[in-house]
Amino acid sequence: MASNYLNIIEPIIKKYDGKKEAIISILQDVQTQLRWLPGDVLALISKKLKIPLSSLYSIATFYKSFYLKPRGENLVTVCLGTACHVRGASLILDELERKLKIKSGETTQDHKITLECVNCVGACALGPIVIVNDDYYGQMTKVKVDKLVDHLLGKKE
Ligand code: FES
Repeated sequence: MASNYLNIIEPIIKKYDGKKEAIISILQDVQTQLRWLPGDVLALISKKLKIPLSSLYSIATFYKSFYLKPRGENLVTVCLGTACHVRGASLILDELERKLKIKSGETTQDHKITLECVNCVGACALGPIVIVNDDYYGQMTKVKVDKLVDHLLGKKE
């Protein structure tokens, strides 16, 4: 796996002329390709750029946009804001957790779906809302959620 990672990391480091100051951009580019920052990758970057591994972890945990846990191809987000909550958002989350066999914040084993929760995405009238990547799905029901997940997992409806 480390050599696969090297194929990804080396061109990115080269793009920034191996400059330590470009570490945030380097991490961002690596994450764009891998969808998260595995520990092996951080170790390789640390070695290549001679930046202490602990510093890389500090950066990766400081910025919310970096992920140290695997992320799926699809991000499914459930709004748990007040308006969505009173319209049954927690039942929608329960259904997603049951169907995907993961909890909020986790990724399916096949890395197809990451499940997350947010508080209000500003479309309260459409609640309960589920967002898949950049697409909003309003007035969700358990049946709609099941169909959506089957579609994402490539199962026939
Ligand atoms: S509470 Fe869900 S969009 Fe506002």
